[in-house]
Amino acid sequence: MDIRRIAGALGAELSGVNLADGVSPALAADLRRAFLEHQVIFLRNQNLTPQQFLDFARAMGEPVEYPFVKGIEGFPHIIEVKKLEHEKSNFGGIWHSDTTYLDQPPMGSMLLSREVPPYGGDTLFASQYAAYDALSDTMKGLLANLKGISSSAKADVSKTREDRIKEGGKQEAPKQYLAEHPIVRTHPETGRKALYVNVAHTAGIKGMTDEESAPLLRFLFEHQVKPEFTCRFVWEPNAIAFWDNRCVQHNPVNDYHGFRRVMHRITLQGDTPA
Ligand code: SIN
Repeated sequence: MDIRRIAGALGAELSGVNLADGVSPALAADLRRAFLEHQVIFLRNQNLTPQQFLDFARAMGEPVEYPFVKGIEGFPHIIEVKKLEHEKSNFGGIWHSDTTYLDQPPMGSMLLSREVPPYGGDTLFASQYAAYDALSDTMKGLLANLKGISSSAKADVSKTREDRIKEGGKQEAPKQYLAEHPIVRTHPETGRKALYVNVAHTAGIKGMTDEESAPLLRFLFEHQVKPEFTCRFVWEPNAIAFWDNRCVQHNPVNDYHGFRRVMHRITLQGDTPA
């Protein structure tokens, strides 16, 4: 397996791997090592059936169902992330770490591209290790004991799900999830500290009024996605991105109106952030 870094803060493309051949324990260990080191890994030319995609996911963790959208036929753990020719909003089209409004947000998520537009539709990723490391010691001290409150109902992100919920929403899903998590979390496998707020879901800070928390959150939301903390992945059909939600945020760029983009996505169970 060859590993090529694509940016300074995070991201690596892996080649010499064909996941359709199955994932041996040795390959799974190599992929896991690359994932932990580079925070988001990319593999091209992976023409996988849904079952092969699920097998890869199971070699990396425990697939869980996405709270709002139903899975594809026969595969409740695989959702379609798509934007159709006539749609204007793209699913998850805002910087975020996945579903931080859950008590145990996902460890990682993976996307497999099925159809991509002729241009645009790239996905941006931002290292929250790099964002945390770049803060002053005084700011690190201030954040050390603060908890962010995440909500599934923040308006900007709710809008990005509307089309998919209309088409394949889960009727039984509650309207709003809320969870509190440390603003700085320690990665359970690497021991590194990462910023853990995001503009899509973090709605406030525990023990502060909205007036008090707003300027601090505004600073963090801007700081945590500075260009030097990011990488950008240009999709082609049959490519996979697998990112670590514990230390990475992502943002799909919505710049391909009139074209179709279809991805399959699997989310992997996480732990309680600490
Ligand atoms: C998402 O899972 O948030 C969407 C990412 C993408 O479509 O690139």
